[in-house]
Amino acid sequence: MPAPSAIEQLAAADPASWWRQAVVYQIYPRSFADSNADGIGDLPGITARADYLADLGVDAVWLSPFYPSELADGGYDVADYRNVDPRLGTLEDFDEMIAALHARAIKVVVDIVPNHTSDQHEWFQEALAAGRGSAARERYIFRDGLGEYGDEPPADWESVFGGPAWHRVADGQWYFHSFAKEQPDLNWDHPDVHEDFLKTLRFWSDRGVDGFRIDVAHMLTKDLSEPLPSAAELAEIPVDGNHPLLDRDDVHEIYAEWRKVFDSYDPPRSAVAEAWVHFDRVPHYASAESLGQAFNFDLLQADFAAPQFREIVSHNLRLAERSGSSSTWVLSNHDVFRHATRYGLVRHDHETSAPWRHVGGWLEAGAAESQLDRKAGERRARAATLFLLGLPGSAYLYQGEELGLHEVAEIPAEQRQDPTYFRTNAESFGRDGCRVPLPWAASGPSFGFGEGGAHLPQPAWFAEHSVASGNDDPESTLNLYRRALQERARLQTGGDLEWVETGRDDVLSFRRPNGWTVITNFGAEPYETDTSAAVLSSAVSVDGLVPGDTTIWLADA
Ligand code: GLC
Ligand code: CA
Repeated sequence: MPAPSAIEQLAAADPASWWRQAVVYQIYPRSFADSNADGIGDLPGITARADYLADLGVDAVWLSPFYPSELADGGYDVADYRNVDPRLGTLEDFDEMIAALHARAIKVVVDIVPNHTSDQHEWFQEALAAGRGSAARERYIFRDGLGEYGDEPPADWESVFGGPAWHRVADGQWYFHSFAKEQPDLNWDHPDVHEDFLKTLRFWSDRGVDGFRIDVAHMLTKDLSEPLPSAAELAEIPVDGNHPLLDRDDVHEIYAEWRKVFDSYDPPRSAVAEAWVHFDRVPHYASAESLGQAFNFDLLQADFAAPQFREIVSHNLRLAERSGSSSTWVLSNHDVFRHATRYGLVRHDHETSAPWRHVGGWLEAGAAESQLDRKAGERRARAATLFLLGLPGSAYLYQGEELGLHEVAEIPAEQRQDPTYFRTNAESFGRDGCRVPLPWAASGPSFGFGEGGAHLPQPAWFAEHSVASGNDDPESTLNLYRRALQERARLQTGGDLEWVETGRDDVLSFRRPNGWTVITNFGAEPYETDTSAAVLSSAVSVDGLVPGDTTIWLADA
């Protein structure tokens, strides 16, 4: 038996805290691996790749929704919270998957979508059939329309995905949907809603799930007392805990109920909030009385630039301290343009817009290949990843980033799926480009994703980013991730970091309590320093130098 790694020792000392320093790999199940040749990834596909995940060295996987869904929003429109979409498998397949992952010491986190159901959910179908004034409509947010004939929406609000937030049903009433019209918002004043989610949390916990990722955790509770404010008035209301729609203080009453369920298991089930809120309010979600941990999305919105990275890290470590949680770090997920592409665009107007705006603008302007320096983007992405993996806290990785994948720009309009594309009249390209099925092989049908094609088209350049190509190349991004996760498991400790001054604005260095040191050169000019204790580098390097766009880890042998 090899000696337990630092991370195993931490977990053994406190099994309830396994998530605090975990590396969590996000799987978008429909695009991971297809076992039955229907072009859609599925749960047996994940089971078949359990060894891949173990070799990669992740501590946990988080599965985006795999529940029955008509896929109006990539599965975030859930028709049945306690089942598996028949296209993705069965509950037995789920049990086999979790057993295969647990056998490899990989924990399983599932996604809970409590703000809205699918319009195919039996409750919503019942509400439509039962008609106005019925008890079934009380579980959602139905209102009569304005105007003499009630044919104007109850308010002129816009949905998060664009277009109106109220939709009219056949009998003339309107319902509220924060996202697509196929995603009616639930009424969290209704006791059935509370009870049903407690049941769902127990259902998956009983099946062995280790934790939950909570979708738009800041949106569930609402104050829709009339008269409803106009969109213009709504925009003026401060988000201070009493806003009609967002980040209300009373949402934590729900999480206090959930906390009792989480803590009734041994070890307690973990949770992480997806809460797009002002940073000052993040600690509410991350506190032990609420969900326990919250995503920090600051790096998604930052340039590859030392001052921004330093500020974000310091700030979020302070926030985590305030909540008693650990920080989270994310460079990519299923909602944003991949970080290799964010960092690879040639023309940046850093002053005027965030990096994902650059990518959006580049896509809209036709995605000219001459504007994307693919190699530079991949190199910076590797450097940023090693920087992130050196930090205290949990690292959330998104499937395909370990292959150095770029955003896929070449998806024809008729093959796009994301509702944001359609609801903005194709003004926003949406998120399909980071959800293209993974390339496992350098050739063959759908690059080894499955025998029956891929539900989103894969570009020719996927060949050189495939798992097979990565395996064969010792210098590949894939092999770097494997080495990095192995080293991280050895070196990771709780605790803080200490910045080391480098004398350069574009070079960051920090030291962990056990002497592990991370140096990232965000600039072009090589940085001279003693590298004799180097254990890992994101790019080929020479003794005594950290090249441009490179991260190096130093540690005692
Ligand atoms: C979250 C999910 C996103 C989804 C939205 C609505 O932001 O990450 O993918 O579209 O919620 O459920
Ligand atoms: Ca399939």
